[in-house]
Parts: sequence; structure tokens; C-alpha cells
Amino acid sequence: MDENIRPKSVIVIFGATGDLAKRKLFPSIYNLYKKGKLSENFAVVGLARRPWTDEILRENVEQSIKDAKSTDEDKNLADFVSHFYYRSFDVTNDASYDDLNRLIIDLEGEYQTEGNRLFYLAMAPNFFGLIAKKLKEYGLKETSGWTRLIIEKPFGVNLETAKELNNEIRQAFDENQIYRIDHYLGKEMVQNIEVIRFANGIFEHLWNNQFISNIQITASELLGVEERARYYDESGAARDMLQNHILQMVALLLMEPPINLTTDEIRSEKIKVLRALRKIGPEKVDNYFVRGQYDSGEINGEAVPSYREEDEALAESSTETYVAGKLTIDNYRWAGVPIYVRTGKRLAEKTVNITVQFKDLPMNLYYKSDNERHPNLLSINIQPDAGITLVINANKSGAGSLAEPIELSYNQNEVPGINTPEAYEKLLYDCTIGDATNFTHWDEVALSWEFVDPILEAWSNSKPNFPNYKSGSMGPKEADELLEKDGFHWWDL
Ligand code: BG6
Repeated sequence: MDENIRPKSVIVIFGATGDLAKRKLFPSIYNLYKKGKLSENFAVVGLARRPWTDEILRENVEQSIKDAKSTDEDKNLADFVSHFYYRSFDVTNDASYDDLNRLIIDLEGEYQTEGNRLFYLAMAPNFFGLIAKKLKEYGLKETSGWTRLIIEKPFGVNLETAKELNNEIRQAFDENQIYRIDHYLGKEMVQNIEVIRFANGIFEHLWNNQFISNIQITASELLGVEERARYYDESGAARDMLQNHILQMVALLLMEPPINLTTDEIRSEKIKVLRALRKIGPEKVDNYFVRGQYDSGEINGEAVPSYREEDEALAESSTETYVAGKLTIDNYRWAGVPIYVRTGKRLAEKTVNITVQFKDLPMNLYYKSDNERHPNLLSINIQPDAGITLVINANKSGAGSLAEPIELSYNQNEVPGINTPEAYEKLLYDCTIGDATNFTHWDEVALSWEFVDPILEAWSNSKPNFPNYKSGSMGPKEADELLEKDGFHWWDL
């Protein structure tokens, strides 16, 4: 973050009564305010259907800040919430947009926000296109400052619907005004992938198929489908996690060093990786991908129901709550290196981790057999601990001439004085200063759908044998076999 810029703007949140606004957006805006990264010249307009008033919104904002563990509220909270305004809003009703425009113009006068307008769509995606269109039609983009649009996922449900949505939005906003949010790109250690790679010769020189045997990405969750049965059942793990968060991490891990750190250069390198990602035809999907759905089981000692028992509507569902896959990149640097990914709900632990396994040395001087050898590993821990672990071999005292693996670890959570901002906080700030680097460009979205679509197509043509993994396990056994047939196994660091 550039600490020196203190943006002025009116932030309009569509979906202000929703979960995302409550859990993430309000606390993030507050943190920015408290840290002085938002000037006093700001106002927030909350919109939703409910007949709330400014007062009710302000009480909710206050409560959400008190509930958020990441913030520690204090006396300027009352000042802060006084910047919030609420309007009951029907996105299909033209008069609502006129009213909104008038309110924004008033607030611009009162708060001297220099005409800067940020529209945040934190609501059901079926209205994204319509809202964008109406914002333009009713003059909400006609201002002397900047206008930007933040869009939450899902961005379509396949390439075709994503294109339609993009075309609709592009009729009202230019690509450089559109900020497609992927909150993984705001995570501290995801942003650190580039630094670890491009600031360390000991890694970057080895970062290719000559020295790396495979790369693994795990994003496992303890939680089940929660209150989101309707959304999730139409989505599934591939759309919910693989198409966006996981492929974004793949791009950052495998891209070439950009010639500089500008948005365009970084995005263009990421796009090249996604272009080189080998598409898997529907007929071959079973060789490369495994899907799963959770059965009942135990999480932290408590019995939990199966996915199909979570909600009446899910009783016969064939939606996957787990996906594991083997990805291949067809370029000079990565040919022959498998990238294994897995993600799922109701697994044994909440973790997001990347592990890079280096190739063994050609000869074995320190072990009795080759089977005992331990490879060098670099593990980037994204969640819950943010840090890195490097596994090397050394002779521990008393171990004769045998080598044993030892772990060198850096855990950012243990560094005193570091208060890692939430992903949403960083991304909101980036948007207000016009830095789109950690948002997804349309080309990335399109290429990701191109990769995921054939997998979904293959799955839609056959009925899976679900449920096939117990809650509290690490997923179906076929996901282990996917690596075993290549002579590898999942690391759990
Ligand atoms: C969201 C998905 O994008 O990411 C959720 O829709 C998922 O289903 C969440 O739980 C995981 O995010 P995090 O930050 O908890 O790893």
C-alpha cells in the first residue's frame, strides 16, 4: 500500500444489508479510516431493498465493527459511522437511480470528495449487468472525478455467461474502471509469492522443470455449506474456488518475472500462464480430476451432517464440495512439472498452503535406501499461519552420518508489531488509489473459464457416486491416487 495517498470518495455499496458488507466491508473501511488511509472526505451510501434508515445502517455498521475481531474499536467510531447513509433501493426501478444520483451530489458537496465515486456490487450477480447499465444511463458516471466499479464473484457460471456479463458491464464501464475482486489476491502471503520468488536467487534460479519435481496447492476448509446452500449448490467447488482463487495462485507461482511491477506487466505475465495451461478435454477429465461430496462425520470432535442433509433442497444433489486435479503447463519453463491442486469443504483442517517439491540429488550418500531420502520442500503458508517453511536435510547430532529433514520456519503471526491488514482492507484501498494489480483482468477470467468449462461439462454428463468422503477427512482416496500414480503424495506442512 502506498501509505501517502488518502483518497477522497463516495463509496456506494449495493447489498449493504448483506453478509459480506457486515463481515468484511464495514470493518475494512473502518480500519482504513483509523489508520488514516481514508481521509475525512468520504461518505458511504448503503443500498438494499430493506426499509432501513441512516440510523439503522449506522447501528449495524457499529455492531459489525464490534463483532470483527480484526478491529479494535475506539472513540472515533461515532465520527466514523456518521459518514454512512442508507437508501432503500430497487435495482430495477429507474427512479431509484435518480434519487441516488441526487444523494451522491449532496454528499459530494458536504464531504468535498472531488467527484470520486466507487460503486461496490456486493449482492446477487444476476443484477450486475443491469446495475452497471443503469449507473451509466442515469448519469451516475458523469462526474469530475473518477468512477470505479468493484464486482464480487461469481463472474458468470461458465465462459459464455461470463462473456455476456462482461459485455453488459463494458457497455457502461471501461476495463480500467472495472475491479473484479478475488479476495485471495489481497491475502498477505499470496502477495508475498512474487516477493519470495523474485527477491531470492536461491529460489528463482531453481524455479523451473530442471529442479522442481511438482507443486501442490491445498485450500481446505472445516466449514460446510453454511447458509449458502442455494448459491453453493449451483456452483460447487470447481466454480467456487478452482476457477478463481486457485488458478490465480497458479498464475502467480508460475509466471515469468515481470519486467517491472506495474499492473499491466504483472497481469500480462499471469495471462501467459493461463494461456499455457493445458486444456483437458471432457473425455480425459477422469484422468486428471477427482470430485467429491462430503458425507457426515466429525469436525473438532463434533458430529456434522452430510452435504445432502444440510438442506432439503440438497437431498439428491450431485454438486461437488471437493475437487482435486493435476494441471500441466505447456511452456519451456514448466513442461513436465505436475501442479496438483485440491480444495474442499468439511475437511480435516482449515489451511491454505503451497508446497514446492524440489528434485532429488542424483546420488544418495546419506541414507540406507533411496526410499528414506527426503526431498527439499518450500512451503508457503497462507492460512491460518502466514509464513514460510523450508525443509532441508542435515546431520542432526548423534545421528551418525545420516541426514534428516529439518524445518526452517518463518511465521509472520509471531513477529511482534505486525498487524496484517485483512484482504478486503487492502483491496478496497488499492481500488481507491486506482491500483488494479490485485484484481482480475477480463482475460484472466475468460481463460480460467476456458480451462474449467470442459471439466464441468464432463461432470454434468455422468452421475457421481456421492457422498464419497467423510467430513473431517482429507477428501476422497482417489485424490491420493492421483499423485500416487506419478510417484508422489500430498505434503501436509
Ligand atoms: C469464497 C468462497 O470465495 O472463499 C467460499 O465462495 C470459501 O465458499 C471462501 O469458503 C474461502 O475463503 P478463505 O479466505 O476463508 O480461504
